Amino acid sequence: MKKSLLLFFGLLTSVSVFSQQKDYFALNSLDDLNVGDKFPVVTVMGDTVLDDAVAVIEADPLNPSNKVLHVTTGTRAGLVQLDNPGKSSAATVLKKYKCISVKFMRPATDNAVEGSSFELYFGKYYAYKGSLKTSLKADTWTETVFSPLELERNTLSKTYQIGLLAAGADYYIDDICFMCAPNAFEQYKEALEKARKDSIWAIEKVRRDSIMNEQENAYSRMIADIDNNMDRDFHLDFEDYPVGTEFKVFPKKGDDPIEGAKAVVELEGKNKVLHVTTPVEGGYVEFDNLNGWSAANLLKKFKNVCIQIKRAEGETATEASNFEIVFGGYYAHNAAPGVALTAGKWVTNTYPLALERNSLSKKMRIGLVAAGADYYIDNIYYPHETYDRTFTDKTKTARYWADMMGKNIGTCVNPGISNNDDFGKTASNNFNMVVCENATKFDATEPSRGNFNWQADGVVNYAIANNMKVRGHTLAWHGQNPDWVSNYTGNREEMVKILKNHIYNVVGHWKGKISEWDVVNECLEENVGRAVGAGYSTRSYSVWYQGFGGEDYIDSAFVWAHQADPNAKLYINDYNIGHWAGGHYENGKTHAMYNLAKRLKDAGIPIDGVGMQMHTSVTGLQPAQIEETVRQFREIGLNCIITEMDMPGGETQDKKCTRPISDNELQIQAEKYGEIARIMAKYDNAPTFVVWGLVDNRSWLDGSEGTKPLLFFADYSPHPAYIEVRKAYQRRAMVVTEVEDIFADGYDNSDPTWFDFDEKKVDVYNLAGQKIATGITADQVLDLPCGLYIVGGKKVLIRE
Ligand code: XIL
Repeated sequence: MKKSLLLFFGLLTSVSVFSQQKDYFALNSLDDLNVGDKFPVVTVMGDTVLDDAVAVIEADPLNPSNKVLHVTTGTRAGLVQLDNPGKSSAATVLKKYKCISVKFMRPATDNAVEGSSFELYFGKYYAYKGSLKTSLKADTWTETVFSPLELERNTLSKTYQIGLLAAGADYYIDDICFMCAPNAFEQYKEALEKARKDSIWAIEKVRRDSIMNEQENAYSRMIADIDNNMDRDFHLDFEDYPVGTEFKVFPKKGDDPIEGAKAVVELEGKNKVLHVTTPVEGGYVEFDNLNGWSAANLLKKFKNVCIQIKRAEGETATEASNFEIVFGGYYAHNAAPGVALTAGKWVTNTYPLALERNSLSKKMRIGLVAAGADYYIDNIYYPHETYDRTFTDKTKTARYWADMMGKNIGTCVNPGISNNDDFGKTASNNFNMVVCENATKFDATEPSRGNFNWQADGVVNYAIANNMKVRGHTLAWHGQNPDWVSNYTGNREEMVKILKNHIYNVVGHWKGKISEWDVVNECLEENVGRAVGAGYSTRSYSVWYQGFGGEDYIDSAFVWAHQADPNAKLYINDYNIGHWAGGHYENGKTHAMYNLAKRLKDAGIPIDGVGMQMHTSVTGLQPAQIEETVRQFREIGLNCIITEMDMPGGETQDKKCTRPISDNELQIQAEKYGEIARIMAKYDNAPTFVVWGLVDNRSWLDGSEGTKPLLFFADYSPHPAYIEVRKAYQRRAMVVTEVEDIFADGYDNSDPTWFDFDEKKVDVYNLAGQKIATGITADQVLDLPCGLYIVGGKKVLIRE
């Protein structure tokens, strides 16, 4: 059986179109018939077939690929007899359809039927008769809608007679279409457009769910492996050496190997390991240093080495032996007590490294120093335990992993930032996004009416130079407005002008440079903003609410921002959002935001998502609730991001820290930041995670030097929380890095038609977004095993 390829999108669309089409009209385009097919031409009551009249399918004289019905009558007038739509009875047909649209054209040579009347009969009874005289043009199709259709008398006839009632008539007829209303086509097109949009979201959701689920499965399957492999520079696992390869065994100093001692690569199951025996005298196996580095360099970077060791079955000699590490004749590790080894059991030990004396040796010697030792070694590696504070190793930063996944991880900064100091370097090494803490707010950008200040240009340029993105914060907010705005008392019309002009100028100025905007900030009412049912209330004392006389400034601000930069992602931003379940003070506001954002989206306002500020605390933050909130916004096709996170510990009073964050709280902070980063890295509707500041001492929060809310201490060294954030991004990146952009082929959301398969070669992906074939033809696609794929950016089912 030949395989078929089913386009999921097409399936959804055509199903909905089919059912809708039935509701709107029944079109008889005649294109499915064959040239030469004939229909009877009958007298009005349908009782006599006229033998000198003909109705035959022919090619349209104006467009040969179109088929039309050519009707000629002889000495008597007659009508063409056709089957009712759906072969239903006349009574049923006319219950639904109230008019009929028909196209006519007269051949150039004929002029007899000019004044004929159009007639429509079902069985013996007319449904439309005579009153309208059609005027037929030669060689031009004229479409006429006859309305209303009313049956002279009820009938169950399943055929109808249609045409121009005249002897000697000669005309073409096409596209006979029963319609539910004169504007049925328009209604249909609207409904089709809506169905198309809905089905785009439906299929997009299926696609996105399937990718996320696959990734999540892989993530949970692989998490142990990932963690084992994380932060390791593998030195030696012996897999690249042929079985039988011998390494030399030396004493601590000197170039002469020990006679009779051996280190040989052997197989243990599928795994290769090094088998060391020192029958006569204890010694050390020698290896090249990682990357050919000197011992001095190596130990600058790594403070520990991990080694797996197993004592041979039945062997007892090495029980008390020290495991020792030597570079150039000097100990890097020889501390007692020795390694406790159980015969036959692998253990991984971490050995702290400290050189007895500096050495530039490029070789390392390791071993259990005992005569008669018999043991195995595997997986010698250097774990990263300390974050690189010298900013030389950018490959292990949170930014590095976020970049790999196309995620934004950001911090807020101020003008004057440059890559010449630790602040600028720490920001650009560890984050790939910045937002201005104040410099893009209204009072900074338009201090007096019509006079704009671009003090944030420097920040934007810094970001561009460091390949970072910029968030814009914020356009319509009740806070940080200049006096001329906050004290405004004019009319609505003026206020509309002010906001529109501001947005056009500010968004326009950084068009293409600021990738996302908090269009509206903190618009929900603090106390009565709690949602009831589908409700919410907006902050009525905001100058924008007052000036516009209502909350429609929100809708307008989004539209204007979109007009000013159609590519910028647009967010509505607020605090105390992120608690989906009940029983928490944030819960009402979370639902209020959901209701407001949904209202905007349903109204077609160009909103991409919701920003959760996340000014919270070590004790207050609840990751599970944040995750649920992200999931809920995802269901309705909205992003849900974190825009201003800080998480102080300890206590503050009167703007002073009265109790600094404790070590235990720093640990909880690490876990919670890590959990938040996991969520942001996981969800495809959570592209952005921004921390409100870089170093604790520059946070906007009172007492922050003691409460340490951010990811870096004042001396630019990372919080334990930073290490956890980095890990979370790394873990996820290690699962998803294989994913390529499945829209690489130019998938166009707005175009529901399938591309021309014969002419195009396509890339094929599985549902996890992994590419499984490049540039293959339709036939080759059909050769793939049955299942679901993404082909040319669209989801297809290949089946028997
Ligand atoms: C804060 C800044 O950090 C401060 O420097 C400034 O004095 C006041 O505003 N929610 C927001 C941010 O949306 O704009 C605020 O930023 C913090 C709370």
